[in-house]
Amino acid sequence: MRKNIVAGNWKMNCDLAQTQALITDLKKGLVNDVNCELMIAPSHPFLYNAFNSTCDTVIEVVAQNVCEADSGAYTGEISVPMLQSIGIKTVIIGHSERRDTYGETDQLITAKTKAALDKGLRVIFCCGEHLEDRKAGNHFDTVTKQIELGLFDLTAAQMENVVVAYEPVWAIGTGETASPEQAQEMHAHLRSFIETKFGKETANNTSILYGGSVKPANAAEIFAKPDVDGGLVGGASLDGSSFLDIANAF
Ligand code: G3P
Repeated sequence: MRKNIVAGNWKMNCDLAQTQALITDLKKGLVNDVNCELMIAPSHPFLYNAFNSTCDTVIEVVAQNVCEADSGAYTGEISVPMLQSIGIKTVIIGHSERRDTYGETDQLITAKTKAALDKGLRVIFCCGEHLEDRKAGNHFDTVTKQIELGLFDLTAAQMENVVVAYEPVWAIGTGETASPEQAQEMHAHLRSFIETKFGKETANNTSILYGGSVKPANAAEIFAKPDVDGGLVGGASLDGSSFLDIANAF
């Protein structure tokens, strides 16, 4: 079901004390209801602490990644059953940093996505082009290929548990945010592409988030676009009041 979502991807930031302090700030700041689903993605070692600290709030704790296998000789990996055993119900998959820094292929990302969906997790599926793709005019083809390879083997029922996050790589961590018009153009393109495979109802029910230097100053204009359903926020999610300002931008 399409919902407004603001998710904070903390990436590899915050130790245990900092995680607990940031969650305390968020809980103190949540004086009014927010008009969106609110999610935070701390680093793996602190997910259980974060889950226990937020289970009495509207904040959902999500994971930043997951293994495609359920168990076995996968040193350093975390499985879907492990995440579910600590109450995690949503996972980010295919972030550009997993693709670019850790070499996750479309094939591996597809396997992770199916493993998560098959066990009932919700997936935030990331896609996005590099600056050279956009400069060459290949950004639509680049992003639709990621979506086609990652999602087009799913059923419409499985797509109900998929949130798409469009994150132009050139906007991640750079302060160079896509304009609201650029975000809307790509989101509309993605929604119509999803419709070609799954039909209008599924396409219209899919939440498509924008990520890439979302800040309190730009969130409202971006979120106001008809095909933008919220944001996947990096740097600004590490400051409680900034993150809540973004959540309150709806
Ligand atoms: O997953 C969200 C992240 O990639 C965006 O980072 O710092 O540009 O908001 P940032």
